[in-house]
Order: sequence, then structure tokens, then C-alpha cells
Amino acid sequence: MKNDRAQFVTKTGVIAATVGSAVGLGNIWRFPFEAGVHGGGAFLILYVICVLLIGVPVVVAEFVLGRGTHANAKGAISQLVPGTWMRWMPLLGVLASVLILGFYSVVAGWILAYLYMAVTGMMSGHTPQEYGTMFGEFVSNPWLSTMCTILFLLINYTVLRRGVQKGIEKIANILMPLLFLILVVFCVNSLLMDGAGKGISFLFNPDFSKITPSVVVGAMGQAFFSLSVGLGCLLTYASYFNDKTPLVKNAFTIGALDTLVAILAGVMIFPAVFSFGMSAEAGPKLVFEILPSIFQHLPMPILWSSAFFILLFFASLTSTISMSETCIACFVEELKMSRKKATMLNTAICIVLGVLCSLSFGVMSSFTICGKTLFDLFDFVSSSILLPVGGIFFSLFVGWVVDKKFLDDQLTSNGEGKMSNWVKMPMMFCIRFVAPISIVLIFLVGLGILSF
Ligand code: PHE
Repeated sequence: MKNDRAQFVTKTGVIAATVGSAVGLGNIWRFPFEAGVHGGGAFLILYVICVLLIGVPVVVAEFVLGRGTHANAKGAISQLVPGTWMRWMPLLGVLASVLILGFYSVVAGWILAYLYMAVTGMMSGHTPQEYGTMFGEFVSNPWLSTMCTILFLLINYTVLRRGVQKGIEKIANILMPLLFLILVVFCVNSLLMDGAGKGISFLFNPDFSKITPSVVVGAMGQAFFSLSVGLGCLLTYASYFNDKTPLVKNAFTIGALDTLVAILAGVMIFPAVFSFGMSAEAGPKLVFEILPSIFQHLPMPILWSSAFFILLFFASLTSTISMSETCIACFVEELKMSRKKATMLNTAICIVLGVLCSLSFGVMSSFTICGKTLFDLFDFVSSSILLPVGGIFFSLFVGWVVDKKFLDDQLTSNGEGKMSNWVKMPMMFCIRFVAPISIVLIFLVGLGILSF
């Protein structure tokens, strides 16, 4: 089995694919809107703490399991503890991946529509308020937004079906640094706006009185979502790592790059929000209402906006490929489906869920469960519940169940790499205690059983 599976050939291939999975709409769309709703600076601090103490350790745990077994999430657990109930736990990750794909592809569909509007110049020359109205009209049109969602899922399908994801990852290898550069340009542009200071202080000046249970739960959910961790996706990617890939170092690199991109997105968005007199608490529509005005502030807005949306489209695609891959690897290796059938099944499920989510902004906006539209519900259940539950499972499993030799072999890349005790001890402490205990505590706070 080991030798039949593909492997990432180059070091940069490994980093590019995992960073490609992590960096996406989670950083550029979800982070600013979550930070906006949850009070800015206080949210940012909690988010960074969650990335460091919970997110990165769980990434290491997934890497250890994936590279150590060279199997999909369910296969990995079955291989290590055959016949136990634990092998079913990764199925929660498969559920999370289709739920995320459901709402993620709606937003990725909006990106496609905005790309079209950018290229054709339809996005130029309006006031910030008009952009708000345009977005509202667009998302509430059932045909347009559903078609965009389906179109995105079909593109995702085509890439997976043709097995050209490696090609896409290669392209992303060039495009991701470009996205980074363009974000830096937009940040400078935003910092030069009148009233930029207010936005910066909103993002970096924590007001601790704003910390409520929902802010803590939101920050943890954002850390899991943005790092793509907790559903077995990084485990699946790590199953393609070669024996020399340094796991802990890569986990830190991903954590650092991912957080940096999210912060840059915040620096791009918030000064503009305050300078245009808009509300930071607009929710999922925040970025879509603000971005067009940011482009108007630059010379050659058509060029900048088109470039930005193309890059963001590729960033989203590398993320959806990784989510789909988690699901498809499980269908193929566990249910013995052909890759073609597995890809079709994955796409069919996602189209149904995606259409339901896209209608949440229009005809189904009054259909709510526990006060949430389907779009919000899928987001909440996956990011704030399923991924953290997966995180508890993966960290406890690696911390307490797998044998010491397996763990040491993985952490030191079979003795190839050195692992100083200064890194290993705190990392193992986080995997065994800090991550699972903090997740449970955050759940208890969220449920109102514990308060502060
Ligand atoms: N991390 C991705 C992003 O930020 C989303 C994602 C979540 C991808 C879970 C894979 C698994 O856009």
C-alpha cells in the first residue's frame, strides 16, 4: 500500500499544498468578518492564542498520523487500533468537509461573480453604499447565486476528476506569493486612507470587556477553520509526505503564514470600513461590500480588482480541493469506490448542500434552525463543533494512544531530523493536555456551563 500512493516530491511541494489548503477564504473573507462581529483586537488575541496552543499542536498530531500510516483519516486509525470504535471518529471529519464545502462554495461562487464584474468594469464608479446594495441584490437573486455556486463546484470537480490538482498546486505555488504581495499593496493603500487609525486600533487595540463566550468559541472555530485542522484533511495530505518531511517545523510554518495572511486581510479591510463609515459588524457580506470601494481608491481599479479576484479564486480552489480530497480518499480507500464515482458523489452532495446554502440569502432567508440560516448553521456546526471535536480526538489519540516508538519516529522523521527537547516537551504537553483541555473548557463556556 505504502508504495502505491503518490508522494510530494519536493519540499516546496509539501509546503505549497498544505499552505494552499490553509490559506483561502478563511483568511480573507472569514477572518475579517468574524473579527468585525466579535470586537476586533480582543478576538485577534484569542485567535492567535488558539492557533499557537491548540491549532499548531493538532496540526502536528494530524501530520504524525498521516505520515506514519500513509493512509486516509479512517484508514490511519483502523491501522493503528484495528477494530475499535475509534476508527469511526474520522467520519465526523468527512461530514465536516461536505458541510464546509456547502457554504464555502457559495462564497467561492461570489468570488467568480465578482471576478466577472471586475474584468468587465461593472464594478467601477459606485459609492460604498451602492456596493452594499449591489451585493444584497446579487445574493438574494436565487438563480445567479445558485448558478455561481454550482459553477464553482463543477470547476472543483473537473480539477479533481482529471487528477490535475498537482498542476493546480504548482500554479498556486506561484500565485500564492503574488496574493501575498497584492495584499501588502492593498494594506498600504488602506493605511493611507483618512481615518485609517480607527480601523487599526479596532484590530490591534484589544478591548477586553468585549470578550464573551461567543467571542471565545468564535476564535477557536476560526483557528480550526483557517488552519484546515480537525477534519483529517492535513492528515490526508501528510499521508503523501515523504519520510524526511520535518513535521513540527512545517506545522509552525503553516501556522505563521496562515495567521500572517489573516492579519494582512484585517489591515486591508478595517481602515477602509471606518474610513467609508461602514459597520464592522456586517457579517459574511463585510468583505464583499468593502473590497470594491478599496479598489476604487487605487489607480487602475480594473486591473487590481481582476488580479485580486483571480488570486483569491485560486486560493479558494486549493482549499476546496483539499477538503474534497479528504472525503474522496475516504470513499475510495474505505468504501472501495472508483475515484471517478467518489468524486462524482462528493460533488453531488456538495451541490445539494451548496444550493441550500446559497438560497439562505434569498428565498430561504427565513428558514432558520436554532436561529441560524442553513449557511450560518453549516458554518457554525463545522467550525465551532465538528472541527474542535476532531481536534480533541486527534490530540488525545496521538498524546495517549499511539505507541512511543511510532511517535518518536514521526517527530524525528525516523531519526533523520533532530528534535530538541525544548521543542518536543512543550509540543507533547500541548498535544496531551493543553489542546484537549482548552477545547473542552471553551465548549463548556460556549454552552454557558462555565462562565468567567
Ligand atoms: N483553511 C481553509 C481556508 O482558510 C478552509 C478549509 C477548512 C480547508 C477545512 C480545508 C479544511 O480557507
